[in-house]
Amino acid sequence: MQENTGPSIIRLYGDQILKETCKEVGINENINEILTYMITSLYYYKGVGLAANQIGHNKRIIVIDHKWIETKKKYKHLNIFINPEIIDESIEDEVMQESCLSIPNIDGIVYRPVNITVKYYDIHFKEKIKEFTGMESRIIQHEIDHLNGVLFTDRLSKEQKNNILPLLNRLKKERQL
Ligand code: CO
Repeated sequence: MQENTGPSIIRLYGDQILKETCKEVGINENINEILTYMITSLYYYKGVGLAANQIGHNKRIIVIDHKWIETKKKYKHLNIFINPEIIDESIEDEVMQESCLSIPNIDGIVYRPVNITVKYYDIHFKEKIKEFTGMESRIIQHEIDHLNGVLFTDRLSKEQKNNILPLLNRLKKERQL
C-alpha cells in the first residue's frame, strides 16, 4: 500500500453522503485508489475506523485499526472489509463511549451487541467469515452503520440526543454556509 496520496477531506455531520446507503463493491473492482486515500486519512486524522463515504466515496468499504494509537504501530493491525455484513450478533449488549471523525468534539454512550460475526471480502476479494469482540467489534459496527447512512448519534438515548442537539445543529449550519 502506497502512502503517496494525501489525506482526503473528512465529510462532516450535515453532509448528505453520510446519510446515504453505500453501494456494493463489484468483484475485482479496482478500489486501490480509494483504499489508499482511506488508509492515509485514517492515520492522518488519528481515527481507529473509517468508512468510504466519510471521505466522499459511496462504496461499501471500511478500514479499521483498533490498536495503532496504543501500540504506535501503523498497519500491523489494519483490517480492510469490503462489502461487510453482520450475519450474527450476541444477544448480550454492552455500553461504550463512541465518537466519530465526522462529528468532531461530540461523544456519546451507545449500546451495541458484544460479539458479531461478519462476512466480508478481504483486499484480495476472498470471502471471509470471522467473529469479533471488544473494541474491534464495536468499531466494525460503528463503521458498518456508516455504510447504511447511520451515525452513532442516531443510536443515542433521547436524553443524550437532546443534550447534544445544539452542537449538532451548529455543525449542520456550518455545512450549509
Ligand atoms: Co464514525
